[in-house]
Amino acid sequence: MKFFVDTADVDEIREIADSGLLDGVTTNPSLVAKSGRDFIEVLAEICALVPGPVSAEVAATEADGMLAEAERLLKVADNVIVKVPLTWEGLKACRSLSRDGVGVNVTLCFSAAQAILAAKAGAAYVSPFVGRLDDIGQDGMALIGEIRQIYDNYAGTLNTEILVASVRHPMHVVEAAKIGAEVVTVPPKILRQLVNHPLTDKGLAAFLADWEKTGQTIAGK
Ligand code: G3P
Repeated sequence: MKFFVDTADVDEIREIADSGLLDGVTTNPSLVAKSGRDFIEVLAEICALVPGPVSAEVAATEADGMLAEAERLLKVADNVIVKVPLTWEGLKACRSLSRDGVGVNVTLCFSAAQAILAAKAGAAYVSPFVGRLDDIGQDGMALIGEIRQIYDNYAGTLNTEILVASVRHPMHVVEAAKIGAEVVTVPPKILRQLVNHPLTDKGLAAFLADWEKTGQTIAGK
């Protein structure tokens, strides 16, 4: 499973990328607004930090406008993935870009029918928003299971990866992995939560206390 981080905060991305565990980054207009920075500048910095795909979202709502914006975004770096909304206009833009060999992430996916269309339009990624479905009393992970089942029916002819987005807690990541989603994009805070377990902390404290009693050192031997 590939791990993307869902943020436009360059410092956070740098810190997480240093772990060597990061495969890519997703941004969206809200995350860029939160950063308070110039989009193109931030995008260039992120793309230089992470060799993997960096999703950059268009702001236009008509396909022609999306394509013009995509042209600008693609000039920033080779690892830019153009993110378009799951609308008819977004699908038109996706079809056109994917025919030209451009990687497209179709975002704001909330149904299996929409995911079928994204694949049909040649998307490299479809981004179902699990947390936002949970928020309205629907089962976000059930949608991931449905899309997995549908895409598996066309294995070999379809190259769209399921990118689980709107992740709110570590169990979303675990469930996405159990279902077999190719990618999960996780906010930095939740990415760090994944490593936590009280028994790990307790066990390590005991090991370190016992080790100190031996009076030994390992490095420099
Ligand atoms: O980047 C898209 C998605 O991950 C947004 O998540 O938390 O705003 O629903 P959220």
